[in-house]
Amino acid sequence: MDITFIGAGYVGLVSGIMMSHLGHNVTCIDTDQDKILALQLGMLPIYEPGLSEYLVSGLKSARLQFTSRYDQKLSSTSAIFITVGTPPLASGAADLSNIFAAIDQLRPWINQNCLIIIKSTVPPGTASQLIEYLAASNCQAQIASNPEFLREGSAVEDFLRPDRIVIGTNQLRSRHLLREIYAPLIADKIAVVSTDLQTSELIKYVSNAFLATKIAFINEMANLCEKIDADIEQVSKGVGLDSRISQKCLQAGPGFGGSCFPKDVMALSSLAQTHQVDCQIVTAVIRANQRRPADMVNKIQLILGGLNHRTLAVLGLTFKAGTDDLRSSPALEIIRLLQLQKARVIAYDPAGMTQAKQFIPGLEYASSALQACTGADALIITTEWPEFTKLDFRTIHDYLKSPIIIDLRNLLDADQLTKQGFQYHSIGRRYAL
Ligand code: UDX
Repeated sequence: MDITFIGAGYVGLVSGIMMSHLGHNVTCIDTDQDKILALQLGMLPIYEPGLSEYLVSGLKSARLQFTSRYDQKLSSTSAIFITVGTPPLASGAADLSNIFAAIDQLRPWINQNCLIIIKSTVPPGTASQLIEYLAASNCQAQIASNPEFLREGSAVEDFLRPDRIVIGTNQLRSRHLLREIYAPLIADKIAVVSTDLQTSELIKYVSNAFLATKIAFINEMANLCEKIDADIEQVSKGVGLDSRISQKCLQAGPGFGGSCFPKDVMALSSLAQTHQVDCQIVTAVIRANQRRPADMVNKIQLILGGLNHRTLAVLGLTFKAGTDDLRSSPALEIIRLLQLQKARVIAYDPAGMTQAKQFIPGLEYASSALQACTGADALIITTEWPEFTKLDFRTIHDYLKSPIIIDLRNLLDADQLTKQGFQYHSIGRRYAL
C-alpha cells in the first residue's frame, strides 16, 4: 500500500522506515531539506539503535522515499500519517499549529478516497475538529487516530512487537484500511483496540500520564526510604512483582524527562482544566516531577557540605540511556541548578554531547568519563548509560580529588564501590546521606 508520513521527526521517521519494512511503499515528507538529503543518502538524523539497517534496506528496496515536496503523488496515496510535533504552549495545552499547517499543505492534493491518520499526540477532539476544518473547505478526506507508543532507544522493537495497536475511527472503511496497514503485526497476534476518535486520542495521554505517575510515585517513595533506612530497589522489586503493578516504570531516579511524559501530563492537566474536571493526581505528578531536580541538587549540596567553587563531574546529559535526546532531561536542569550555586560542572555523555554543545554552550565538556573526573570533588551519575557500569573505578578513585560518587540512577554496585574506598551515595537507599 502507498503510505505517506508528514513529518520525519522521531515518530514519523521510525514509523515510516518500519512501515516500509512491513512491505508498504512509504514516502516521508519533511520541510527540513538538509534532513531529507541526509536520509536520501542513508544517514539517520537521530540516534536510534537498529534503525539504520532498516533505513538502508528500505532505500535499497525502493519502498522508502524522502522528499520535502507536497505534490501530485499524494493524490494516489491510500493513507497519510500526520507525525508532526505538538509541543506544549505556555498554558501546557498542546500546540496544534503544525497539525493544521500539514493539513493545509495536503488539502490541494487529497480527495475523499484518502485517509488522513493522526499519529501525533493530540488532545481528544482534535480529529473531529480536523474533520470540520476540512469539510469547511469541501474537502471530504477521512480522518482517523492512531497514536504511537514507541520509546526512544527501543523504538524498532516497540514498533515490531507493540503491546497493542490503537485505532480511532468514525467510519468502518477507515478501520478496515488501518487494519490492512497493520496486517503483518495483527497476524503476529498483536492486540488491536478499535474505538472512536476521541477515545483513541485519550488512550495515548492516559497511558503516558499513568506511566509518569508510577515514576513520580516511586521517586516519592525513595525520599521516604532515605528517612526510614529502607531500600527503594528492594521496595521496587517487592512491589513490582505484583502482576497488577509490574516492574516497569518503577525505577527511582532524578525525575522523568523526554519529549513526551512532561508534555503529555501537562496537556492532560490542561484538558481537564478546560473541562472543569479536577484531576488532582495529574497535577501532583507534574509538581512532584518539577521539584525532583532541585531535590537532587539539595542532596548533592548536603553530601558535599556546599557547592560553591566545587568541581563536579556529571556523567549523563540525555533524558535516559539509549538516546541522544536532551529534551526535558533532568540532567540538564540539575546542571543548571548546580551552576546557579556556583559549582563548576564538567559533563560527559556517550551520545548527547553533539546536541548539548549546540544548546548549552556555557558548559564544560570532557572527552571521556575519566577526563571529567580528573580533579573533581565528586562524580555524579545522572543518566543510566550501561558504559558507566564498566568504568575503571580504581583509576577514577585516583583521578578524583575526593572519592565521592553520587549515583542518581542507582546504577552502580554500591558494595563494590564502598569496598574500593569510595564514599558512595545513591537515592532511596541506606547509602544516601
Ligand atoms: C515514553 C513512553 O514510554 C512511550 O510509550 C511514548 O510513546 C513516548 O514517551 P520515552 O519518553 O522514550 O517513552 O521514554 P521512557 O523510557 O518511557 O522514559 C521516560 C522518562 O522516564 C525518562 O526520563 C526515564 O529516565 C524516566 N524513567 C523511566 C524513570 O525515571 N524510571 C523508570 O522506571 C522508567
